[in-house]
Amino acid sequence: MKDSSRRGFMGKAFGAVAGVGAVASLYAMKKSWDPLPSVKAAGFTTLDMSAYKENELVTEKWRGKPIFVLKYTADMLAKLTEQQKARSIMINGEGYLVNLGLCTHLGCIPSYNPDDKSFLCACHGGTYDYTGDVTKAPPPRGLDIPPFKVEGNTLVLGEEGPEYKNMKANGVTL
Ligand code: FES
Repeated sequence: MKDSSRRGFMGKAFGAVAGVGAVASLYAMKKSWDPLPSVKAAGFTTLDMSAYKENELVTEKWRGKPIFVLKYTADMLAKLTEQQKARSIMINGEGYLVNLGLCTHLGCIPSYNPDDKSFLCACHGGTYDYTGDVTKAPPPRGLDIPPFKVEGNTLVLGEEGPEYKNMKANGVTL
């Protein structure tokens, strides 16, 4: 191999190695500024609303807090007052309670009775109806509603969609 062609070969080889190195370091940089999967998971919880059964309370988790999800039966849906409707989330014609599962008095976790369709907080005897509205003191207000966004048949907790903003503006939740 002549000297000049060797130099040309070495130049190309060095260029190729440098190119690979540049791509690798760009990839490493991008990875370092992307949020970790655990951070994403901590911020948002996505719920498939078609998976819930009528009048069966499920406790999900969002940012380490319990979230009550209760799908209404047709009868529960038909009996909603205007005030209860304002607290409920409607998705594809179905009604749901989606509330923070912490009593608004001192933070105990209320339990749901599917027979009389109400919540009882055993700590001081506060009660809530099946939409999470308070029916007996001492809780000062209904169960709080976490920020949510409706996306087709899924609910994204942690994002403020128009329905949630509306609830907040109307004083339905804090
Ligand atoms: S903490 Fe629920 S009634 Fe007091």
